[in-house]
Amino acid sequence: MRQMIMGNWKMHGLRGQGKRLVTDIAEAIAGIRETREVVLAPPFTLTGYLAPLLETHGIGLGAQDCHAEPEGAFTGDISAPMLADLGVTHVILGHSERREYHHENNALIRRKAVTARRYGLCPVICVGESGSQKEAGEADRWLTRQITECVPDNFDGIVAYEPIWAIGTGKAATESDIESRMSLLHDVLHRHLETDDKSTRVLYGGSVKPEDAASILAVSGVGGVLVGGASLSAESFLGIAKAG
Ligand code: 13P
Repeated sequence: MRQMIMGNWKMHGLRGQGKRLVTDIAEAIAGIRETREVVLAPPFTLTGYLAPLLETHGIGLGAQDCHAEPEGAFTGDISAPMLADLGVTHVILGHSERREYHHENNALIRRKAVTARRYGLCPVICVGESGSQKEAGEADRWLTRQITECVPDNFDGIVAYEPIWAIGTGKAATESDIESRMSLLHDVLHRHLETDDKSTRVLYGGSVKPEDAASILAVSGVGGVLVGGASLSAESFLGIAKAG
């Protein structure tokens, strides 16, 4: 399976910047398409605008969230069929920033994943422990619970392990930390889904930079990376996408 390099632009980018960023990475991405799958998740406002450009260059189009219902009286929200209609292929669900600022819980994230799948989107479910949970030795129990409660039956999407303490801090998890969490997550997914070991792709996210991307991507069990800050610069994102 190709490793996935996914960029999460979060709430960054106007049309001009977004188009320039995609144009700057598109040509260089072509050479690595055999080994790496590249997906970009711009803000909703750029989704339809960038869709044709991304499709031309064989780059997947991600969204950063969707509603659990396909339609309805939910002012300001965006549904899975609306995203699919624009050509979206992947949707990030349960990012720690959504959990913190929009009070999303595991049950809601599970419902979103079911709806996303029903409309042909590949859900990328985020899990991760806080710094205090890590220090208290509670990370494994917390991650097990997040997987069990967020991941629906017959899940064929992606999981992203994003330790909250590593997001936006410039301090990625160590390789040995990533390896042991990957092993736990694959184990829990295997039991939860009753599928073959390691058949679910698990990404690592949290301060991934070009200089440490190769060693992170080489860690056993890592199916790719979910990149925040470094995906906003063509040079950094390409450095990560081509690493190793
Ligand atoms: P950073 O790469 O900026 O730490 O963000 C990671 C992230 O939250 C990706 O979803």
